[in-house]
Amino acid sequence: MDAKNEIKHLRSEIARHDRLYYLQASPEISDFEYDALFARLKRLEAEHPELVTPDSPTQKVGGAPVDGFAQVEHAVPMLSLDNSYSIEDVREFDARVRKSLPAQESPSYVAELKIDGVSVSLAYRGGVLWRAATRGDGAVGDDITENVKTIKSVPLRLKGQFDPGEEIEVRGEVYIPRSDFEKMNEEREAAGEQLLANPRNATAGSLKLLDPKMAAKRPLSVFIYWLRAAENKMPDSHSGCLDMIREMGLPVEPNAEVLRDVDALVAHLEKWEDRRSELDYETDGMVIKVNSMAHQRALGGTSRHPRFAIAFKYPPEQKETAVVSIEVQVGRTGKLTPVANLEPVRLSGTIVKRATLHNRDEVERLDIREGDRVLVRKAGEIIPQIVAVVKEKRTGAEKPFAFPEQCPVCGSETSRQEGEVDVRCVNPFCDAQLRERLAHFCSRQAMDIENAGPSLINQLVDRGLVHDFGDLYALTREKLESLDRMAEKSAANVIEAIDRSRKAPLDRLIFGLGIPMVGTRTAKQLADEFGSLDAIASADAERLTQVTDVGPRVAASVKEYFERDAAKNVVEKLRGAGVNMTQERRSEGPRPLDGLSFVITGALSRPRDEIKRDIENAGGKVVSSVSKNTNFLVCGEDAGSKLEKANKLGVPVIDEAALARMLSPS
Ligand code: IVH
Repeated sequence: MDAKNEIKHLRSEIARHDRLYYLQASPEISDFEYDALFARLKRLEAEHPELVTPDSPTQKVGGAPVDGFAQVEHAVPMLSLDNSYSIEDVREFDARVRKSLPAQESPSYVAELKIDGVSVSLAYRGGVLWRAATRGDGAVGDDITENVKTIKSVPLRLKGQFDPGEEIEVRGEVYIPRSDFEKMNEEREAAGEQLLANPRNATAGSLKLLDPKMAAKRPLSVFIYWLRAAENKMPDSHSGCLDMIREMGLPVEPNAEVLRDVDALVAHLEKWEDRRSELDYETDGMVIKVNSMAHQRALGGTSRHPRFAIAFKYPPEQKETAVVSIEVQVGRTGKLTPVANLEPVRLSGTIVKRATLHNRDEVERLDIREGDRVLVRKAGEIIPQIVAVVKEKRTGAEKPFAFPEQCPVCGSETSRQEGEVDVRCVNPFCDAQLRERLAHFCSRQAMDIENAGPSLINQLVDRGLVHDFGDLYALTREKLESLDRMAEKSAANVIEAIDRSRKAPLDRLIFGLGIPMVGTRTAKQLADEFGSLDAIASADAERLTQVTDVGPRVAASVKEYFERDAAKNVVEKLRGAGVNMTQERRSEGPRPLDGLSFVITGALSRPRDEIKRDIENAGGKVVSSVSKNTNFLVCGEDAGSKLEKANKLGVPVIDEAALARMLSPS
């Protein structure tokens, strides 16, 4: 077989195995054999790049990133459906449908589970997928072709014979299966990343990724429920459309059913109320469609909703269970969150063991006690809510819950700022906040320890390798190499960055310590005024307030920070590790930019932070917007409104070279 024919053969085999795997769930070959076919195809295509076509399965890994999404006008508007919330509503819908049809006609219905995902339109030409779009506002959506191409169950070529220019459009719902969603969140939790709220949001986010290679990694899937084809090919019923969609190799939700009248329909809706929670995808109801296409045409619709279909929404599932205990967790920012541990119940497909109680006010509002019977509900979000306490079922043995006055992790006092609902632990050394503190210490504006991202920091904390900033300096390449996803090269890079940070300027160290209320600017002023960490640590409040930005509250915060034993220990550890703790005092003697105010704009040769630091080191001030008080606008290429404003106000405009001359006047 020549390369061209072998490629053709491999593609159709891979497409067939994809269908067997993703549509029929009955694979004929092992993953290993499948991978071998795929690898062979990839090799042949690499050897014969002229034979690569957009419908090749190798194109499913994701193409080049895009800057944004082009707009796509839908040939037929993508309408949404009218909602109904009760069986009565559904019977009324049936009555309306009958009234609009000739008396002797008795409409049958198709009921489809309403997948809670993101609707998309897929356009095929000559059987090949050429464009995919989001619903957008119904008339115009985003072109998300490159991302949709990476969805495993979306065929790049339809099964069957098609004329070269023949257009077929299908629409459906992209979703992330529950099991995959839970896996994604487990991975996020392990990496210390923020959890995704629900599969629908995760799906929408995935489709809007600008890098298709990232989208290819998301476990997206699709169900198709709508078809537009040439008139002579259109089936005369909706169930016929579903059959045709299936025959073309597109996935259709397997539980769609034709119901002969409204009674059968109602029985079907009731049957699925509980059953839908067993599916591996989220559904929020049932879509009911008049089956006959002739009836559909006769019924028509308004500009927003068709009259031949309706969405029936199930109420969010709610269950009763018992509160085993109430605990208070301390988050990364010191926030105290009360959480109820529950007797496990199955709710909308997952086992619920905990529910957040949000904050102190909510605990008081619910008057929730350990041992209480409560109603829990999952309303779209992953974290279940407690709807109410079933007070009639109280026996008197329930234990009222007292919100702790001290931090449950470190025992320090807690505080609640005026106007805030959250109670926080005030101890900046609280163990619960360790990860966040480390991330801050390593950040670019602080010690600039590159590559120390959340995943590394989490591992360091989880394995007990790092308890405070000082421990970072005791890390070795060998220790780092023992961590997950840490190759030799990256371990060496991290060590090098840590090493480099020993020489970081004093103001960055001060900022990196994370003293409450001390930002980059105050840190700079403290460094300039005192010249060493020790001088700052031993200064009294009055001396501290001599610094421009330091008022009584900041001074108190600095003093309180350095008075803690934990701070003293960390400072000693850092000193022992050879971290720089001094700089020249800058408050004496005039500096070249004293009293001058700068605005920076446009594309410059160095990061803005750096330029800003240089200006501040020389006594200048950098502000964000141009006013008549601005002394200079430092301007790079492609400057916009700031340059305009400076010209209008007569503010002198200088380039980087001129700034450099001002910084070090010879
Ligand atoms: S039919 C004219 N069928 O629910 C037909 N929609 O407001 C319009 N949906 O935007 C849609 N499953 O995103 C239809 N089997 C299904 C569906 C479904 C989910 C979504 C779709 C639509 C919304 C209805």
